[in-house]
Amino acid sequence: MSESPESIVSVAVLSKKSFPDWLDAQNASVKTQLSQGKFEGKKGQVALLRDTDGQVMAALCGTGEDAITPYSICPLVDVLKKCSHDFIEDTGFSFEEELSGEEMTNLCIGWGWANYKFDAYKKNKSPVPKLIWPEAADEERAEAFINAICLVRNLVNTPANILNTNELAGVAEDIAKTFDADFRKIVGKDLLDENYPMIYEVGKASENPPQLVEINWGDNSNPRLSLVGKGVVFDTGGLNLKPPQWMGLMKKDMGGSAHVLGLAWLIMSLNLPVRLQVLVSIAENSVSDNAFRPGDVIQSRKGLSVEIIDTDAEGRLVVADAIAKACEDKPDLLIDFCTLTGAARVALGFDIPAFFSNRDEMLDPIKDAGMGNSDPVWPLPLWDGYDREMDSPIADVANDTSMGRAGAIQGGLFLKRFVDPSVDWVHFDCYAWEQYGRAGRPKGGADTGLRAMFHYIESRYGKAS
Ligand code: BES
Ligand code: ZN
Ligand code: ZN
Repeated sequence: MSESPESIVSVAVLSKKSFPDWLDAQNASVKTQLSQGKFEGKKGQVALLRDTDGQVMAALCGTGEDAITPYSICPLVDVLKKCSHDFIEDTGFSFEEELSGEEMTNLCIGWGWANYKFDAYKKNKSPVPKLIWPEAADEERAEAFINAICLVRNLVNTPANILNTNELAGVAEDIAKTFDADFRKIVGKDLLDENYPMIYEVGKASENPPQLVEINWGDNSNPRLSLVGKGVVFDTGGLNLKPPQWMGLMKKDMGGSAHVLGLAWLIMSLNLPVRLQVLVSIAENSVSDNAFRPGDVIQSRKGLSVEIIDTDAEGRLVVADAIAKACEDKPDLLIDFCTLTGAARVALGFDIPAFFSNRDEMLDPIKDAGMGNSDPVWPLPLWDGYDREMDSPIADVANDTSMGRAGAIQGGLFLKRFVDPSVDWVHFDCYAWEQYGRAGRPKGGADTGLRAMFHYIESRYGKAS
């Protein structure tokens, strides 16, 4: 975003309702350019208006009948990105200011999201259209939302040969430093000494050591909020090796940890009145002669023994140890984010993360926080009738069933065994990936449920005091 561009193009964001009045006030040239219904303020419609020299002097973006969300402006940004490099480099874009502060803030957020490109490994990089911050926008809030979401995208998009376990822990450490938070990590065999046996077991086959990262931030007098993330930097499936078509995307299996780091970024940037604890279980699920095996029985931090039925159900193992740790500190609210099961995708597809809670009364407020903020989420039940399917003849619990039914619920029920029943708990089984790519949301690493939870947290604890 730039302060001194050579030329400025004004941007009008128009609904179907506001468009006719806006058009009435325009000169004959604009009216001619917009004749024949080329632009009517419909959602996603975009128009570039030119002066007599053919230079672009204004841009229009339609919102139809919908409320303004960050995504509202993204179709326009996508069109601008396809303009000539010279035009993009020399121009600043400035909103016509008739919208509310919140709407302006949303548009700024969307502009930042739409400008995102994962081009770290590309030789040729292209410029992005620069926005001149509107007075009415809350710049701090917009920056926080842009940075948090782009952090998630970058982390998920970065391949596992680069974002290995040490690197992911390093990113968490950098974030802690940015906000002057306490940081601690427990690495490799130390996980056994400190009683995180399941994180160790899952990650021990990789030369990149497993680790548990902990960040603590905020005033001790505030209610404690714990975030737990699945940080499997690559999931081969282990000895229960994934077939190629399922393994290809598994660099994104640390998406849950990207979500909690992004959410933590938002909470700390906007200084929410909570005492925040972030726990990230980091491991690479690899194949090696020392890999954990189907049939193994392993111990857990909580004291439950776990029979390994499937080494590909590794996420619930690493996360369960972190959940047990979080519960020892008695949080007011515990939230975990995991790319836990393919079954959640069978149930709800790519766009909608499944979430679960041990408090039925929290389901609607969380669903509403998502649906009302362009971040759809939907609840599934922790149906305890299915618990018995995880009975093991030789251990306290098995990490999979042979039933092949309700896999996302099974994942949730497994984690529930490690949750202290007195703690309010929410579990997200998310995809962390945009499958198709759409305006403001390029194909690749993506937030799925993060903003829903931020809005829920903000309504539960209030904004910064
Ligand atoms: N990381 C996967 C889950 C996953 C797969 C998420 C594909 C998104 C897309 C997880 O570790 C896994 O492999 N889960 C198994 C569990 C099963 C063995 C009980 C699954 O879903 O097949
Ligand atoms: Zn797996
Ligand atoms: Zn996994």
